[in-house]
Amino acid sequence: MDNNRVYFFDTTLRDGEQVPGCQLNTIEKIEVARALEALGVDVIETGFPVSSPGDFRSVQEISKAVSEPVVCALTRAVKKDIEVAADALRHARRPRIHTGIGTSFFHIEYKLNSTREKIIERTREAVHYAKKFVEDVEFYAEDAGRTDNEYLARVVEEAITAGATVVNIPDTTGYCLPEEYGAKIRYLRENVKGIHRAVISTHCHNDLGMATANTVAGIINGARQVEVTVNGIGERAGNTSLEEVAMILKSRSKDFSLFCGIRSKKIFSTSRLVSSLMNMPVQPNKAVVGRNAFAHSSGIHQDGVLKNRLNYEIIDPKDVGVRQSSIILTARSGRAALKHRLETLGYRLEKNELDSMYVKFLELADRKKELKDDDLEAIAGTSRKKARGFELAGLQVLCGNSVQPTATVTVNTENGKITETASGNGPIDAAFSAVKKILSRKVQLEEFLVQAITRGSDDIGKVHVQVENRGKLYYGFSASTDIITASVEAFLDAVSKIERSVKQ
Ligand code: KIV
Ligand code: ZN
Repeated sequence: MDNNRVYFFDTTLRDGEQVPGCQLNTIEKIEVARALEALGVDVIETGFPVSSPGDFRSVQEISKAVSEPVVCALTRAVKKDIEVAADALRHARRPRIHTGIGTSFFHIEYKLNSTREKIIERTREAVHYAKKFVEDVEFYAEDAGRTDNEYLARVVEEAITAGATVVNIPDTTGYCLPEEYGAKIRYLRENVKGIHRAVISTHCHNDLGMATANTVAGIINGARQVEVTVNGIGERAGNTSLEEVAMILKSRSKDFSLFCGIRSKKIFSTSRLVSSLMNMPVQPNKAVVGRNAFAHSSGIHQDGVLKNRLNYEIIDPKDVGVRQSSIILTARSGRAALKHRLETLGYRLEKNELDSMYVKFLELADRKKELKDDDLEAIAGTSRKKARGFELAGLQVLCGNSVQPTATVTVNTENGKITETASGNGPIDAAFSAVKKILSRKVQLEEFLVQAITRGSDDIGKVHVQVENRGKLYYGFSASTDIITASVEAFLDAVSKIERSVKQ
């Protein structure tokens, strides 16, 4: 083991998946596990096999599907749990059993109705038993955050003597202060005999918003494994965010001199995959992966970022797989920001044109909170001749569970109406393929987002798309009660912008 390496143990599929509404089926879990492998995590906690046949199957199938990371399964300190976990892991190239028991006063007294001595006995027996099946055994002392350090040290020592390769110190209730949690890790390092034979792991919950801070305090004090989830999802307020810890180590590399295997450029795509499969939106201001994490809204910041992004950005968005930062247009935005956005929409203005546009922009911005591309187009339309574009003239789709999805799309273009038909893996894919046949230039779909405004099935769907042409990104938007129509219109909206930008 390299003492300068921080090992990433991802529990999105276990602690994260316990959240109501986030449950995934086996196929979806395999997709996430493969993404985690590509992201470079060291250990994937795949489930709690004894809890349900579905969890058992997922652990078994992920064991076959990934080869690089350690595949881990959770158990209680119960023989049956350990046997079932070992069985589920039998195809894993690098299996790990994660077994443990509660060690705090609350858990021993009220949950386990036991005594401190009996908990130590069960620790020894569980680790010992797990070692019969796999070499790599991780022990967790549940609620270690509220366990007194002296007793915790005894439990951890027992686990290591019985053969634990990793000792996990969970702040199960998210109660610890960073200093306190860091001191706990240091205490164990200094007082547990044989501690050098095991890796100390952090596992922090976010009930008081301190999960990442506590994890970092753990690392500073000698922990070399961090248990994290993508987007910080997990029980209650969640677990430590993978992306936050990875980017702290990267952005502050001079302070830590530590490294990890996370391929940071895959962070954003993994975040969005987990968010969409688990139906768990990422809060807009979430560090590293939130929609606003690289969005600048005040005029001073916008001007500063456009001059040099280092003025207001400590992370290069490209380092986490975000193509570029964004500038939010409000009444506080300056000319530089307006000019920049108009250019991405395909408008290149002379100074006097920009000045008069800016006056109109401010008038509208005073009435509206944020100006979107459509608003700018409206302003531009009053001062410039009507923009060229594509317009949806007709759409027919055939889809269902027994036919190959096919779409026929008719578009009004400069050269008159053009109709094309294509098939795809779904109605939207088919419709987009038909539109691509109509276009003369090559466009690449980069992002596609459908959102419902309220919750009913009669709701309006809002569709945002981002397409790429010759290295530049163009945005498109539409809304309709028919999401296939909205999708095609949003796609056409984006490609119309390419057309305008090229022909200007
Ligand atoms: O939070 C916790 O204590 C846990 C353990 C089961 C590892 O998730
Ligand atoms: Zn947990």
